[in-house]
Amino acid sequence: MQNQDDNKKDILGEEEVTQVIHTFYERVQVDEKLGPIFNDVVKIDWPSHLPVMVQFWRTIMFGDGGYQRNPLMAHMKWTSEVRMDEQKFQHWLDLFHSTIDELFSGPNADLMKMRSANMATMLPRRIKEFQNLS
Ligand code: HEM
Repeated sequence: MQNQDDNKKDILGEEEVTQVIHTFYERVQVDEKLGPIFNDVVKIDWPSHLPVMVQFWRTIMFGDGGYQRNPLMAHMKWTSEVRMDEQKFQHWLDLFHSTIDELFSGPNADLMKMRSANMATMLPRRIKEFQNLS
C-alpha cells in the first residue's frame, strides 16, 4: 500500500480531495463498465453528485465535509437495475487507487486508498445481506 514518491504532494484537504474526485469521475464517465451505469441507467446529475462525493470524502478523511447520508442505501436503491457485485466494486477500486497514485503520495493518500478498499469490500457484502433478507 505504501507508495511514497517525493515528487508528489500528499492529500491535505478540500483542494486535493476535489482533484481526486473530479479526476476519478471523469474516468468513470468514459469507463466501459462504470460509465453506462452512471450515464445511461442512473442518469446521474454530475453537477450535484460531485459535490456530494467531495463532502463524503472530506468527512471520512478529515471530518470536515458535513456528509450525513447513507451510502449503502444510495447503492441499494439501484440494485434492481444494476448488478452491484464484488467484481464491479473491485474494478471501481482499481480505478480509484490508480487515480490517487497518479496524483498524490503520502500518509493521507494511503489512508484514502485504505478507506476506499474497506468501503468497496463492505458495500457489496451488505448489499448481498440485504437482498438475502428480502
Ligand atoms: C461498483 C461500484 C460503484 C458503483 C457502480 C456506484 C454507483 C453509485 C451511484 C449510481 C450513485 C448515485 C446514487 C444516487 O444518487 O441515486 C452512488 C453514490 C455514492 N457512492 Fe457509489 N458506486 C460504487 C462504489 C462506491 C464506493 C466503493 C464508494 C465508497 C468508497 C461509493 C460511495 C458513494 C457515495 C458516498 C455516494 C453518495 C450517496 C449519497 O447520495 O449520499 N461508491 N454510487
